Amino acid sequence: MIDLHCHYLPGIDDGAQNLEESLALARAAVADGITHAVMTPHVHVGVFENRAAGIAQAVAQFRDALAQHGIPLRISAGGEVRIGSELIELLAAGELPFLGVLKQQRVMLLELPHGQVPVGADRFTAWLRKQGVLPLIAHPERNKDVMRNLAKLDPFIEQGCLLQVTAGSLVGSFGEVAQRRARELLDRGDIFALATDAHNLESRPPMLAAAHAFVAADAGEAAASALTQRNPGSLLEPTVGSGVPPPESPRTHSANR
Ligand SMILES: [Fe+2]
Repeated sequence: MIDLHCHYLPGIDDGAQNLEESLALARAAVADGITHAVMTPHVHVGVFENRAAGIAQAVAQFRDALAQHGIPLRISAGGEVRIGSELIELLAAGELPFLGVLKQQRVMLLELPHGQVPVGADRFTAWLRKQGVLPLIAHPERNKDVMRNLAKLDPFIEQGCLLQVTAGSLVGSFGEVAQRRARELLDRGDIFALATDAHNLESRPPMLAAAHAFVAADAGEAAASALTQRNPGSLLEPTVGSGVPPPESPRTHSANR
């Protein structure tokens, strides 16, 4: 399986705080069946001042450490970018990280504030799309506005933005409401990828297999593979991805629950 969202790089955000924790997370990911993980540290102006070049350097160092310790996890560089007007300048300066490329568009893992969908967020994503950036919205099922009203996502879906749901949400790790929203999005076929958003072994471990099993039981193995392998793999470079065929339409799932 391929994980598009996790926080393993040591000491650069609120994920792993040192190399030992990073390696432990990587071992846990491998044990869970993850073969490739995209490192997505927070890029949050004023909070976590990470930029594309520094993340790429940290990924290269961590890749060496994985090899030295014999941990069979492929990794690549990305970032979880917090929405904000500062991004306009950073995008122009080439300082923002992307997960990969899909249909000639650079895919950005875009994080909304947890408490709300900010007024104008859809205008911002529309602007990003005009710049050749395809937003993959991180864990919308855990956003408080979306938890209250799923229709808050409609403008983004209508624009063609992709949705990444946290694997743990689907199986209840983030509470009943997030689970309900995750399952509604699954039933509607609106999920592009499941990802772990793993931060640590204690409360936010790498966990993708349980969600894969849930989708497989509910909608079949092909639907599960689309969300944990085929779709996420489609935006990675062929050299680091798994050479998987192009993604299925996000609307692959129509079962009722
Ligand atoms: Fe995250």
